[in-house]
Amino acid sequence: IAVEPFDFIAFGGTGDLVRRKLLPGLYHRDRNGQITDDTRIIGVARAVLTPEGYRDLARQAILDHVDEDQRDEASIVHFLERLTYVAVDAHGDAGWPELAALVGTGGDRIRVFYLATSPDLFGDISRRAAAAGLVTTKSRVVVEKPIGKSLESAKVINDAVGAVFREDQIFRIDHYLGKETVQNLMALRFANALFEPLWNAAHIDHVQITVAESLGVEGRAGYYDGAGALRDMVQNHILQLLCLVAMEPPASLDDEAVRDEKLKVLKALKPIDGGNAGHVTVRGQYEAGASAGGPVPGYLEELGRPSSPTETFVAIKAEIENWRWAGTPFYLRSGKRLADRVSEIVVSFRPIPHSVFGADAGEICNNELVIRLQPDEGVKLLVMIKDPGPGGMRLRRVPLDMSFAEAFGVRHIDAYERLVMDVVRGNQTLFMRRDEVEAAWSWIDPILEAWGNSADLPKTYRSGTWGPSAAIALIERDGRTWHEA
Ligand code: BG6
Repeated sequence: IAVEPFDFIAFGGTGDLVRRKLLPGLYHRDRNGQITDDTRIIGVARAVLTPEGYRDLARQAILDHVDEDQRDEASIVHFLERLTYVAVDAHGDAGWPELAALVGTGGDRIRVFYLATSPDLFGDISRRAAAAGLVTTKSRVVVEKPIGKSLESAKVINDAVGAVFREDQIFRIDHYLGKETVQNLMALRFANALFEPLWNAAHIDHVQITVAESLGVEGRAGYYDGAGALRDMVQNHILQLLCLVAMEPPASLDDEAVRDEKLKVLKALKPIDGGNAGHVTVRGQYEAGASAGGPVPGYLEELGRPSSPTETFVAIKAEIENWRWAGTPFYLRSGKRLADRVSEIVVSFRPIPHSVFGADAGEICNNELVIRLQPDEGVKLLVMIKDPGPGGMRLRRVPLDMSFAEAFGVRHIDAYERLVMDVVRGNQTLFMRRDEVEAAWSWIDPILEAWGNSADLPKTYRSGTWGPSAAIALIERDGRTWHEA
């Protein structure tokens, strides 16, 4: 169903995110007939570029980032017709009057300001947009992570954006919440009677959340070195996944209902600080090694500096101090240049209380529910069965496998594609509320401080491995192992 007509104003309009995700995503929605013909997409950046030049950039973005079977000339031309461009200086006055002349300063058409820029521009852009009369009651602003580098800096950004936009106009995007399987996690939990009665510490031994990447920092070493894996991945994506696994059932999928429950989880996280960080966290930094069959340089070589305290890998044993989860640790890990690109959530159930089988039957492994975000999205339930064959009662663990690609054979819409449409519809369920972002920083800040005060540097690991051996020790110390992807 088509959404209401809207004006989409993309700040950072020539940048990587817009080219890789937003323009291709909007193209797909347009090709699907979800965008009305009078909708406008306006690229905004500092570069001097004609609308024609911007359409060329967009065409290239589609060629580069849309699968060939989804491209056809008529759809591309149809999409490009809605594009235009205005050069605007986020720090100065230039371009704002032209932008105002183009979109107008009134009207009740939905207007989306997408700030695909560095977070230190969020406040300035909001203020200048307001001063130019661009912020209408039906305006929405989308801000990208990272929102700050600490609780304090996040508050500054939230205050600056909040001085111009109401909270219900602010969409803090975490694209992990738009991933197909993340949505499925909610379906799995709340549309089945099977899991929820077992979804607690009495039945679940532990949970693992892994977001592993095989790529390095690519061209982003400058940003990344000031951030590190904890800020880049854990503060947002991984904590959001943790919240969806751990939250109480919300009364509805209403945005406030879901976000209230997530906030309670964040507030129940056991603090990690100088007292326990050395025991429950591991930091790593990749060295040269091999990835995708070829040699790759180490982080410091990519950065061009002899040393850096920045972690490209982190593993954490987190605990949630509430009735549902006391005694069930959540092991979190994320890193760059690991052995594989895989993101998954593993829910590991407790052992059976008593075995009726003899020693010959073999080991009885715990049931596991594996929720795979990427690649090969799907859900697997690992169960014990009798090994077929004449060998008597021998047991084996096999997956009850629900691979979405095989089951449905349809293209999944990309996270950004889904979330941008949610912005237009005004649905904030999959966006972070201010108090959530700040609660996440409140948990992260003391970890960063503990690391900053420690004399240790991140432990090195070879590119193409699963991170430093200390991360394996972190979980094995508790008699558990990382699930093999
Ligand atoms: C981004 C991080 O938020 O997520 C990147 O800044 C990371 O460092 C990316 O590579 C991972 O996203 P995805 O969707 O490729 O798993």
